[in-house]
Amino acid sequence: MENYADILFINEVRALQELDGTAEKYQQFYPERTKESLDDADKHFIESRESFYIASVSSTGWPYVQHRGGPKGFLKLIANNKLGFIDYPGNRQFITMGHSESDDRVALFLMDYERRARMKLLGKLTMQHAKDADAELRDQLMTPGQPRVDRVATIDIVAIDWNCPKYIPTLYSEDAIKKVVDATVKPLIEENELLKAELAKHKNA
Ligand SMILES: Cc1cc2nc3c(=O)[nH]c(=O)nc-3n(C[C@H](O)[C@H](O)[C@H](O)COP(=O)(O)O)c2cc1C
Repeated sequence: MENYADILFINEVRALQELDGTAEKYQQFYPERTKESLDDADKHFIESRESFYIASVSSTGWPYVQHRGGPKGFLKLIANNKLGFIDYPGNRQFITMGHSESDDRVALFLMDYERRARMKLLGKLTMQHAKDADAELRDQLMTPGQPRVDRVATIDIVAIDWNCPKYIPTLYSEDAIKKVVDATVKPLIEENELLKAELAKHKNA
């Protein structure tokens, strides 16, 4: 993988860091932080996502950001520094796919709102209609419970970085809330039902 800062810290960015006094710190920090390839924690983080945000660049220079979601694990690490995912039916505007034809560069945000973690990723996107895609790759990217397969996408990872948790709201998925409710509130509801039945017996006695 490449150095994240070398790609994004263009002259204007560095000038602002110089003014702020952070330039030197970042210059030392980023080479150390750059990995050759993803480690097990990165891999686990990526493969436990249920969604991500993906930014592409139009041929007119406009940035565009869209959301992708699917069953947990739909975003897969299929080789060293290579991601893949199935694109499901949407509004058929094909904006991200169309952008990638003239410029394959993308930026991803992978959020874990429960643990307040955010991975930022730069890469190169290839997206094909399912009928044109390699069948073996398509099969490798399938996830149980997924909607219809419309497009097959891969992203060659160029660089990653992590953000600090500050200002990320703590949000829980429906599944996580259900687990807590099942473990705490459900037994109380059941107990309440038993007590109400007991009370009714005494009232009727
Ligand atoms: C019926 C339907 C309608 C949708 N309408 C919109 C919409 O109006 N705006 C939007 O941003 N996404 C909408 N979506 C979600 C997008 O289609 C989906 O995120 C898709 O991946 C968009 O990809 P693109 O922006 O790269 O073209 C819709 C999805 C469905 C299934």
